[in-house]
Amino acid sequence: MSLIEKLQWRAAVKKFDPTKKITAQQLDNLLSAVQLAPSSLGLQSFKVIVVQDAETKEKLRAAGYNQPQITDSAALFVFASLTKLDEDFGKRYIDLVAATRSVERESLEGFEQMILGTLNSRTDEQKIAWSHKQTYIALGVLLSAAADMGIDAGPMEGFDPDKFDEILGLKEKGLTTSVIAAVGYRAHDDVYSKMIKVRRPKEELFIHI
Ligand SMILES: Cc1cc2nc3c(=O)[nH]c(=O)nc-3n(C[C@H](O)[C@H](O)[C@H](O)COP(=O)(O)O)c2cc1C
Repeated sequence: MSLIEKLQWRAAVKKFDPTKKITAQQLDNLLSAVQLAPSSLGLQSFKVIVVQDAETKEKLRAAGYNQPQITDSAALFVFASLTKLDEDFGKRYIDLVAATRSVERESLEGFEQMILGTLNSRTDEQKIAWSHKQTYIALGVLLSAAADMGIDAGPMEGFDPDKFDEILGLKEKGLTTSVIAAVGYRAHDDVYSKMIKVRRPKEELFIHI
């Protein structure tokens, strides 16, 4: 299948087959895809909690409007934004760039000032809102990578973020939930994935100038 055919195949599955698990290798490939997602300034100001524990998934389902995807999928990806994006966070990123590319930290001075300037020019709320946007890019990459691997992934915003934060102990970790995705395999009788995809026509969606 071409990429476009795979994107036609993918669907926001509502009914997963709870008996079908993904392998450790498949999971690792999905993590690699998320890891490789681009982010503004490269900062990756988020973490992803991968929930496979049945008991935790039950609790999250109750906080997720009882959506069955949360418990029946093989793994639940919880994208969470960092809540503290201070100068130290920016400086530690520069440390990582220097170490990864084996360059002198001093040569990154201009880049560091740009990052610190960006962080310092925003309020905490603005920085968290900005981080939430980054998680959606990673979510998009996850959905596309899963489709490429023939794995189902259902994005969800239908949950109570405060309750998710509480169940997963995210506040103490300096995190807050952004968006989630159930990953696994569709049940043979999942209705939604059999429906014809509804998309706006290209003439309406795109403006060529
Ligand atoms: C950010 C986001 C949040 C979504 N939240 C939910 C959700 O909470 N529950 C659900 O069943 N579907 C949810 N969806 C799935 C959409 O309804 C679905 O992607 C859309 O109808 C298009 O269908 P398709 O993904 O199968 O092509 C969400 C999708 C996105 C991208």
